[in-house]
Amino acid sequence: MTQTIHLTVNGHPVSVTVDDPNMPLLYALRNDLELHGPRFGCGLGQCGACTVHIGGEAVRSCVTPIGSVGARPIVTLEGLGSPEKPHPIQKAFIEEQAVQCGYCINGMIMQAAAFLAKNKRPSETQIKEALANNLCRCGTHLRIIKAVAHAAAAL
Ligand code: FES
Ligand code: FES
Repeated sequence: MTQTIHLTVNGHPVSVTVDDPNMPLLYALRNDLELHGPRFGCGLGQCGACTVHIGGEAVRSCVTPIGSVGARPIVTLEGLGSPEKPHPIQKAFIEEQAVQCGYCINGMIMQAAAFLAKNKRPSETQIKEALANNLCRCGTHLRIIKAVAHAAAAL
């Protein structure tokens, strides 16, 4: 039996009709709400490409049942900033050219944003630890870490 799930996404109330409340949140964000910031990588909670914020925490939406979100606000990359008004972390990634194929970057930015919201003056070691479980198959890590440090200095 279908059910309607009510969510707050990027500041807007939305509703999604699902067959199963255990459906991953990622599917609703991408397929129903057409928010393609969160990406499908591994689908197993292991790569970080699908990272969004739920209640201010960085969460892997591919392993988050949509029915578990409740009233906690969701923020996707689209809600972090816009091309006209990018978030300082988005700006830093552009300025440091911290992208190769780009597949991992949305998740990296969301992970970094949640981290910097709690630790505004991190050491390089802390940045590395915060992003250690976000995978980048292109090996862009050095520039990614530089971009996060750049963003921290700008916040
Ligand atoms: S797609 Fe969610 S962690 Fe890899
Ligand atoms: S830039 Fe290609 S996977 Fe990270």
